[in-house]
Amino acid sequence: MTRTIYILNGPNLNLLGKREPEIYGHATLEDVERTCASVANEFGLSVHLLQSNWEGKLVDWIHEAREKAAAIVINPAALTHTSVALLDALNTFEGPVIEVHISQVHKREAFRHHSYVSQRADAVMAGFGVAGYELAIRHLGASLAD
Ligand code: DQA
Repeated sequence: MTRTIYILNGPNLNLLGKREPEIYGHATLEDVERTCASVANEFGLSVHLLQSNWEGKLVDWIHEAREKAAAIVINPAALTHTSVALLDALNTFEGPVIEVHISQVHKREAFRHHSYVSQRADAVMAGFGVAGYELAIRHLGASLAD
């Protein structure tokens, strides 16, 4: 079985660390990748972190994950609240899926309270900052070892 976890990131997350730091903090996506790789390594897992501003690109990576990933951690960003296409793609993936939001979306604008992706996600992290990614990897590390 593959021991790789895909960490997928949606629109504007390439600007993490620079974008609205009062909401999303100062850590970059490279920092997230480094931390997650190190945590995954503790469990004999590896990570493959990807980011796109394009919905279809994320759909393609979810399809790729069907063959290449044991689990998906996804921060769909704004597509969380709009994308049936991402939900449909995730429904074709058989392994565990964890949805991550850096901010506590339920404390924010009403349009951020609904997530299409949550209909598929096995767990949802929101409001832990970028530590949410690491906590998701830790959970997967423990559960994939069972
Ligand atoms: C986000 C929350 C979304 O509502 C927003 O559009 C994002 C980031 C988060 O990580 O908190 O781009 O997914």
